[in-house]
Amino acid sequence: MATSSVNPGTQRTDNWQLDSLINFFALAAFIIYATIRAFENNYFEVPGTQYISPFYSPYIPHILSALGIHIKQLEQALPGHSLSWIISPALFILWAPAGFRASCYFYRKTYYRSVFAAPAACAVGPKNGNPLFAFLNNTFGNLLGKGSKYEGERSLPMVFMNLHRYFFYVALGLIAVHVIDTLTSFFLPGFSGIRLGFGSVLLVIDLVLLSAYVFGCHSWRHILGGQLDCFSGCPISEVRHHAYQRQGLLNASHMQFAWISMFWIAGVDFYISQLSKGVWTDFVFYTHAWKGLF
Ligand code: FES
Repeated sequence: MATSSVNPGTQRTDNWQLDSLINFFALAAFIIYATIRAFENNYFEVPGTQYISPFYSPYIPHILSALGIHIKQLEQALPGHSLSWIISPALFILWAPAGFRASCYFYRKTYYRSVFAAPAACAVGPKNGNPLFAFLNNTFGNLLGKGSKYEGERSLPMVFMNLHRYFFYVALGLIAVHVIDTLTSFFLPGFSGIRLGFGSVLLVIDLVLLSAYVFGCHSWRHILGGQLDCFSGCPISEVRHHAYQRQGLLNASHMQFAWISMFWIAGVDFYISQLSKGVWTDFVFYTHAWKGLF
């Protein structure tokens, strides 16, 4: 690698800033969009369909009313008060995917570099000549430990990253929710018939991408076989060996599935919000009502 006489923060002469800048703006765009949508508390369902935005599912008011707790009754007990601004259902949901993704090994690498700039890239020091990364490192770098540089996840607050292995089980629950939402989207409201719309196609792809991301997780890899010293000896170990090898295919593309699944979910939410506002109309391939059955 050639030595740079210009920049005392690194000897790299390639365009090392590009990756971190792209990641910074991509993460910022997603976080801003998700935050606005989470607080909007509107346009997450589409009349005439059973679509629900992944940001709002499972829909808490439906769960509460199944438990006999009705928001409207709570509001009547507090005259003049609306609870709708407090109870944006998305705020009770998003901690799960946010916690899973924020503690994911890939995202950690991404935001340690592009948001904390600690360091902004391999073999790059804090005084690297980029004012954005200098600002980010000064502002957020200390979160990683003493001295604004990465020191592992051994002390507060980054020790919480070790919860990722438990968030993996939460993510399995999220996949179950996406499966239910996707299957439900193929039916008319009240399950009064079949409805095959373009939104369902988007939801199927969303489910595939999310599953590819979650099952490419390093924690899942560890469960399958990562903690074994030897795969031979018993039939179950050999099954685990095969599963471990297959999982390696997803694990190798973990970064790609992390990005694509994240933006696909935002895209599905945006599509549903536009349908809900009446800006767009869902393309329906086939519909059939079960007249007389109910
Ligand atoms: S390591 Fe990325 S989801 Fe677990």
